[in-house]
Amino acid sequence: MLDFNDASFLADPYPQLSELRAAGRPVWHDELGLYLAANYDHANAVLRTKTLGRIFSPKQPESEWSEFNWLHADSILDSEPPKHTRLRSLISKAFNRGKIESLRPLVERLAQELADECEAKLATDGRFDVIADFAEPLPVKVIAAMLGFPTSDEHLLRPWSQAIVKMYEVAPTDADREAAKLASHEFAEYVRGLMDVRRAHPGTDLITDLVQVEEEGQKLNAQELIATCVLLLNAGHEASVNGFGNGLVAALQREDQAELLRTRSREIAETAIDEFLRFDAPLHLFERTATADTEIGGVTVKAGQKIASLLGSANRDASVFERADEMDLTRDPNPHIGFGAGIHFCIGAPLARMEMSTSLPVLFERFPNLRLESEPIRRPTFVLRGYERVYACQ
Ligand code: HEM
Repeated sequence: MLDFNDASFLADPYPQLSELRAAGRPVWHDELGLYLAANYDHANAVLRTKTLGRIFSPKQPESEWSEFNWLHADSILDSEPPKHTRLRSLISKAFNRGKIESLRPLVERLAQELADECEAKLATDGRFDVIADFAEPLPVKVIAAMLGFPTSDEHLLRPWSQAIVKMYEVAPTDADREAAKLASHEFAEYVRGLMDVRRAHPGTDLITDLVQVEEEGQKLNAQELIATCVLLLNAGHEASVNGFGNGLVAALQREDQAELLRTRSREIAETAIDEFLRFDAPLHLFERTATADTEIGGVTVKAGQKIASLLGSANRDASVFERADEMDLTRDPNPHIGFGAGIHFCIGAPLARMEMSTSLPVLFERFPNLRLESEPIRRPTFVLRGYERVYACQ
């Protein structure tokens, strides 16, 4: 039985995930009270099967947790059709490939500016933190710009998001729970205020677009609007930061892959990013609840029971990926499910890919001999897998 609190499992979950796949069928996990689908086919099927829904069931008492609960229940991610279809069609326009491509020059400029700051740190301290100084500010700035979140308040986003996502882990502490509750309240109130400002003074941003949709034909109520903006602000950076950090560290720890990045980063950027996400996924577990008895991989998930799709495990399945435990930044095709599958497939995938494949070459062209300065420090979590600090030098 997997122990999600075991430090050695959290440091490197892949050997045990491989054993889980060897069972050949979803396995019941008592502590979590759900099936774990670890094989590629099963994890993929969990995400694509209509009778397995994303249904938010409040784990916390409604009275004190109302904001945390509706921030989830009313967001696109925790909705199912027909509400999901409505929310998705409203925001998907902002995330289509053409729109995203038009942001590339902005992303390139931001990456260059961050690289300037990293260079300055390198000159004074002999190192910089790839997470705090490069991987994190970039997607935060981009999603904030898209939504029209004031630049002067960008620093609030990451702490709010970090506090909220601690609740997605297997066993949040009391302190984590209090921090998540407070962050939900502050974040929701802030976005509510921003909506009021945009209603009075429209801009050219996504919040303005959504507020106008709300006014035109009650398509989106205030809670749905706030919940969706909060989700976009959080999902819009959390996995990108971790995906970039996880992949970069793994590549720098493998001399042949590091050499590829040092010499051909621009040429291989697209395949490298997908391999970053496949090899050490930033998001490992997504739950679904059966709305009717559903068979997955020879196991019947009864109506009301839960099953989780293990994305990071699926992406190491040797029946789909050759040399699955090896990192190959030129891997093509690479049908990983790091962005999910089915109706909830990541709406931000084109944005995340564009950000990461633009910023990766900037980093290596500026620091051609980039290497790890010390042992990177991981966060001890499973569901959202990422590094706390990654000091690099050259
Ligand atoms: C490397 C970065 C990213 C990864 C690995 C990632 C991964 C995922 C995954 C696995 C899901 C599906 C969850 C499920 O099926 O339960 C998802 C959904 C979603 N993601 Fe991302 N994501 C990333 C970046 C982004 C960005 C930049 C945005 C920007 C807005 C974003 C917005 C969303 C939204 C709104 C959903 C919900 C879609 C729906 O329910 O229809 N993500 N993401």
